[in-house]
Amino acid sequence: MDKVVIIGAGAAGLSAAIHLAEENVPSTVISEMPSGRVQSNMAEGGINAALNTMGQDDTPALHEAETYKAGRFLACREAVHRLTHAAPDIVRTLFDWGMSLNLTETGQIAQRAFGGQSKKRTAFASASTGKQLMFTLTTKARMYEARGMIESRIGWRFLKLVERNGRAQGVLLANTNANQIAYVPASGVILASGGMNGLFGNATGSVLNKGNVTASLFAEGLPLGNLEMIQYHPTTTRLHGKNMLITEAVRGEGGRLYVEQNGERLYFMEEKYPELGNLMPRDVVAREEWYWIKQGIQPWLDMRDIPAEVSKNKLAGVLDACHDFLSLDPLQAPIPVSPGIHYFMGGIYVDVNHRTRIRNLYAAGEAACQYHGANRLGANSLLGAIAGGRTAADAAMDDLHGKTSSFQPPAEWLAPAYWLTGRKEGANLLRARKQLNLYLQKALGMERNETDLLRCLAQVEQMEAQIDGGYDSQAPIDENVIFPHSLLLAKAILHSALERKESRGAHTRSDYPGEREEYRKTTLSVYTDKAIRTVFQPIEGD
Ligand code: FUM
Repeated sequence: MDKVVIIGAGAAGLSAAIHLAEENVPSTVISEMPSGRVQSNMAEGGINAALNTMGQDDTPALHEAETYKAGRFLACREAVHRLTHAAPDIVRTLFDWGMSLNLTETGQIAQRAFGGQSKKRTAFASASTGKQLMFTLTTKARMYEARGMIESRIGWRFLKLVERNGRAQGVLLANTNANQIAYVPASGVILASGGMNGLFGNATGSVLNKGNVTASLFAEGLPLGNLEMIQYHPTTTRLHGKNMLITEAVRGEGGRLYVEQNGERLYFMEEKYPELGNLMPRDVVAREEWYWIKQGIQPWLDMRDIPAEVSKNKLAGVLDACHDFLSLDPLQAPIPVSPGIHYFMGGIYVDVNHRTRIRNLYAAGEAACQYHGANRLGANSLLGAIAGGRTAADAAMDDLHGKTSSFQPPAEWLAPAYWLTGRKEGANLLRARKQLNLYLQKALGMERNETDLLRCLAQVEQMEAQIDGGYDSQAPIDENVIFPHSLLLAKAILHSALERKESRGAHTRSDYPGEREEYRKTTLSVYTDKAIRTVFQPIEGD
């Protein structure tokens, strides 16, 4: 009998599992912690779909054009077409499944304005859309769990893909509590393991997600795309050790950005971009803020022009978070904001059907490089996760071969000591990861340049030399196995940023301002013969 293994129980993973279950294909969903815990702070402000409930003249074609443009023409147009045209059905289906969404007075799904879009296209659940979505998906998945169609394995982390004859056969997993390794055979494997926050250590999402699945597969030769495209969300606010998201919905509901100059407020976005103002695409807003921050001037997000009733009804989560974590009442005072790492547009390179270059291996959601090009449109992430999960599940079902792999790994693979053979104790991986975080934050910030990127590459290479096969008995087995691959992944990101000698979307090079047509290509990173190769290849479908 066929069984698909899904790595990750976020929106993309559950979307895939539910879609498989609907077609009577069983799956096992692997996650470190119960669904919803990791991603609940994602995409607070909404999910895009041209539903046209606000009496506007919206169409999926316009959604497609605006997504493609915001991505600075680096996404696969066909994938964007499919995403945006599937969106209305996706949002209506979620609503039918019981997802709480704000409604209009006539009972239609309400929609709000969001960045980079000329229509009110973002369906929302106040300021906790991600949470509501995860609640809906978890409830739906539980129903299939009860019927035996979805098996949920909580408390396990990815250790390694098992591949034979160019096909994914299953996965090795490490237990988060016990020093234990398990093998799960599969007919197909869907990677829905999210972004790479833990490489940078300071992001709006959970830093528990280190991008280890991506790092491991990269080390095995799987190509990755557009790694340099890291989205800085323009409105995050600093807490100790973390950047808290202040949803774009604040600006969608009328919040304004300003700086103070000579005792006057300068609404810099409204001045410079009269049409979309505070709702320009994220890369543009983040860069404009950065211009001031570089001069030591603090940008502020002001909610005081939004009617208090609107803030209370539609942005309650923001009021609560500011109150709880900043001791600040946004109805009375502006919020200090700055750009913070929020989303990775790059990741595992997939085709339009979410197939990777290994047979029976697929990637979806933030783990995959798909849909968003050089800059993601706000509120397209939940949509991309659901659409990508479905598409990957469809591809997996098309490729099913009637039975789960019969490959049995050698018994020693299940012994943790096997993975440390030939390595000496002596590394401190917690300290090393923190160091790596600092190096990458500095070199891959809002603005990059060759000097900083080369310096960072040398620093990461020095770390590789220091670790030199050492292991850390205090660190879990998967971290010991994968941390060297994380260093490799870090170098691949740096190489991608170095080789893209232009500024496009989220990638701003102070030494190469402006877009250059010859770089309207996918940055492909491949690890072969113990070397990282970075090449620019035509965008799929171009
Ligand atoms: O600002 C936000 O609510 C984030 C949304 C998203 O990243 O899609």
